[in-house]
Amino acid sequence: MKQRFYVTTPIYYVNDIPHIGHAYTTIAADILARYNRLQGKEIFFLTGTDEHGQKVEKTAAEKKRTPKEHADIMVDNFRNLWKRLNISNDAFIRTTDDAHIKSVQGLLQMLWDRGEIEKREYSGWYCTPDERFWTEKDLVEGNCPDCGRPVDQIHEENYFFLMSKYQERLIKYIEENPSYILPDTRRNEVLGFLKNNTLGDLCISRPKSRLSWGIPLPFDENFVTYVWFDALVNYFSATKYLAPPTPPSPSSPQATRRGERGEGKGGGETLNSQLLTLNPDDWWPADHHLVGKDILTTHAVYWSTMLMALNLPLPKNIFAHGWWTVHGKKMSKSLGNMVDPNVMVEKYGVDALRYFLFREVPFGIDGDFSEQAFINRINTDLANDLGNLVSRFIAMAEKYFGGAIDIGRIDVGASSELEEQCAYAHMNVHRKEYWSHLHFSLILENIWDIIGETNNYIARKEPWKLAKENTDQLKIVMSNIWNASRITALSLYPFMPNSSEKIWQQLGMKSLVDEAKQYSPEIFEWDWKPSYEIKVSKAEHLFPRIETKNNR
Ligand code: MSP
Repeated sequence: MKQRFYVTTPIYYVNDIPHIGHAYTTIAADILARYNRLQGKEIFFLTGTDEHGQKVEKTAAEKKRTPKEHADIMVDNFRNLWKRLNISNDAFIRTTDDAHIKSVQGLLQMLWDRGEIEKREYSGWYCTPDERFWTEKDLVEGNCPDCGRPVDQIHEENYFFLMSKYQERLIKYIEENPSYILPDTRRNEVLGFLKNNTLGDLCISRPKSRLSWGIPLPFDENFVTYVWFDALVNYFSATKYLAPPTPPSPSSPQATRRGERGEGKGGGETLNSQLLTLNPDDWWPADHHLVGKDILTTHAVYWSTMLMALNLPLPKNIFAHGWWTVHGKKMSKSLGNMVDPNVMVEKYGVDALRYFLFREVPFGIDGDFSEQAFINRINTDLANDLGNLVSRFIAMAEKYFGGAIDIGRIDVGASSELEEQCAYAHMNVHRKEYWSHLHFSLILENIWDIIGETNNYIARKEPWKLAKENTDQLKIVMSNIWNASRITALSLYPFMPNSSEKIWQQLGMKSLVDEAKQYSPEIFEWDWKPSYEIKVSKAEHLFPRIETKNNR
């Protein structure tokens, strides 16, 4: 069976207008999905929208729409943006999908039957905009510790997931699995929090009288489930009805194909046991949940303990990335400083944006978004280093050989100067630890080392002189440059898929994606060569310089 790779983004609040922060998590997941796809793995890349809760209900009422009508309109903001950003998700989950609702209800019923949920009298401080309860000691000067807005005291009966009893087990799990939560700084924060606080139980319901736009509890019609319980389950429920079908493996006789399990069979035990049956060829558990640092606790604590209570395996990794600010300030509607990814793509192109976000700041720490820094990256890294390498090479190839490159001449093996100079960087581009720890900026730095070495090689070898003096040597040098450019295009593919494909074809090859699929993993080696003749061809300049007042 092919190796599997399952990656998720958070499901975004459907009511929000997507900004650069949302784009960030989704592009990161796309980079991972594309890299692993090129390695020949089977991929399930999931994203989607979180559609229940008070905010959607309220905005829909203001707009005189039903909540579902409102969600149906808003969801396109995300769908369209992902198309524009060239996101290769395999599925898009909406928490209003029938099959998802049934899964949530099935899992709730299961927890209820097992005594993992209890009804209790409850009083607490409620932040309506954040839809969250706080205890007295959480409050900051009497206000919500998250958003600083006033909170209301509420007394009511509610259902609680008995999360507290999993505290010790969770600590042990995180300690024994060092890459469960990454980066390490975030892992230490979660461990510190769990070791220094007593974990409470989690209120997982809202009375219908106060909120009707939610999934009804299967065991009490007067309540709907808390939006986070509903949302977190998406990562599991999607594997049951949205994941790519897989051939049943001989070792799993009950394995069924997509669409045949769980759906439309009503609630109760049958649904529950189908939901929780895991076959060796199932997609759960995920390889990576990518989340922003603000939602790490809900994933690392709520979701992990929910899975423990359900006896389901935990995801292999939860990665919490940092936040983008703008001129040092949090992006917000009220400040009017939201960076719209659509506008950035319009102005600078999709690959430039994808590159900038992952080169400028190591994935995991906070960064400040500045258009000038973005322009500098385009002009320096993309236009000068990469763009010039490709266009100079092609111009020389056309001038000296009418575009034909004698790839039989590629100088490989211990004696090859350019190969040796690029070897360490080339190894780093595929370093397992860099990919498993999502060190995207380091990977990009190493790709730029290859580009830098190749540009130096051109300067040192002076092909324009060789053209007059030594045609044989010129052929070897040009073949080596061609090969380093090929390696560059391939390495860049997960980050800049369109540009890489264009460079690949300008270098005279057929299709990067098709050929990578066919020849993986040899195609990543320095000495891979296509079996057909190579003729490079001039095309548009990929990254035109951006002229501004500051760099004119
Ligand atoms: N609906 C929940 C997630 C449920 S997942 C089971 C949610 N949605 S969200 O739309 O508010 O946020 C989604 C993601 O966007 C989070 O990972 C969050 O960290 C990320 N970002 C929101 N603003 C951001 C920045 N300014 N910078 C980087 N990422 C940010 O939370």
